[in-house]
Amino acid sequence: MRVAVFGARSYDRKFLTAANAAFGHDLHFLEAGLNADTAPLAADCGAVCVFVNDRLDRGVLERLKALGVGLIALRCAGFNNVDLAAADALGLPVVRVPAYSPHAVSEFTIALLLALDRKIHRAWSRTRENNFALDGLVGRNLHGRVAGVVGTGKIGALVARALHAGFGCEVLASDLVEDAELKALGVRYVPRETLLRESDIVTLHCPLTPDTHHLIDAAVLKAARPGLMLVNTSRGGLIDTGALIEALKRGNVGGVALDVYEQEADLFFRDLSGTIVQDDVFQRLLTFPNVLVTGHQAFLTEEALSAIAETTLASIADAENGRPLANRVTAERIR
Ligand code: NAI
Repeated sequence: MRVAVFGARSYDRKFLTAANAAFGHDLHFLEAGLNADTAPLAADCGAVCVFVNDRLDRGVLERLKALGVGLIALRCAGFNNVDLAAADALGLPVVRVPAYSPHAVSEFTIALLLALDRKIHRAWSRTRENNFALDGLVGRNLHGRVAGVVGTGKIGALVARALHAGFGCEVLASDLVEDAELKALGVRYVPRETLLRESDIVTLHCPLTPDTHHLIDAAVLKAARPGLMLVNTSRGGLIDTGALIEALKRGNVGGVALDVYEQEADLFFRDLSGTIVQDDVFQRLLTFPNVLVTGHQAFLTEEALSAIAETTLASIADAENGRPLANRVTAERIR
């Protein structure tokens, strides 16, 4: 099948091309992300392959349908950027990669937490200038601290295990469903408000839904423990960034590590180093010494990219051959 691969970066081309040897699709790599203006680039394609920040609202979906596109293949797990109700109504199936490597994201989460806590990012830039002074680099042990994991699905469960068994944290968890194995290990499920109030470390691993939008807001940050360490490798919209900046300015927050950002669609996945970034909120975030930001990188391992490519291309082959779509998401299925 001819497939328009929007927002294709060097690593997408490499891993999709390698995996495509087993499928033989006609992959049409496009630098541009998918939006209303770029949708016509999918003309003559049976499927579009898109990523987290491509915007698939009703208008874009209608355009794709009119062009003859018959499948939306997300090369990611999250699908909050797709109007699923509109896709269902148009008869446009949407497939995703439900699990490619939860280890990639959970390991990156722990890496961010350790770097933030022990100020590795600051030490790295100091030593490059032969500054070996340790003042200002005092961290805290993870051992014995209370870590709250919001969302104990595939990624959150691995993070909870690492924090509990690996580092000796007391782990609190909040989820709509409780994981019996985690409970048996000693992870304690508590209401979300309790977790956010009683944790020294909070790490977010739930999807972005109306219920989780801005789950970290001004009230939560006011009630949180002084010196809170906050890590978000899930979705930017889980945090009210304005409220976070105010809390950081008050000195209430110990540190924040973000791999995702509410308005990241206008920033991430490209080199803007020679441009003037217009997002003042994001620029303010970068000025805090205790804020560490990466550009939606948690998934980026060889293992994850191979798995993403294989699952995505297999779903496209299933659609082409009229087979059931195991990785389909519909508005009904997430309700
Ligand atoms: P998952 O579906 O296995 O787990 C999500 C968990 O969140 C489930 O246990 C679900 O019950 C829970 N949940 C749903 N609503 C909740 C709520 N209101 N409160 C608390 N828990 C709630 O998903 P997985 O694979 O663990 O991914 C988690 C998130 O990580 C994804 O939603 C995605 O946004 C993000 N992600 C980020 C990546 C990155 O590169 N930064 C890569 C992959 C995923």
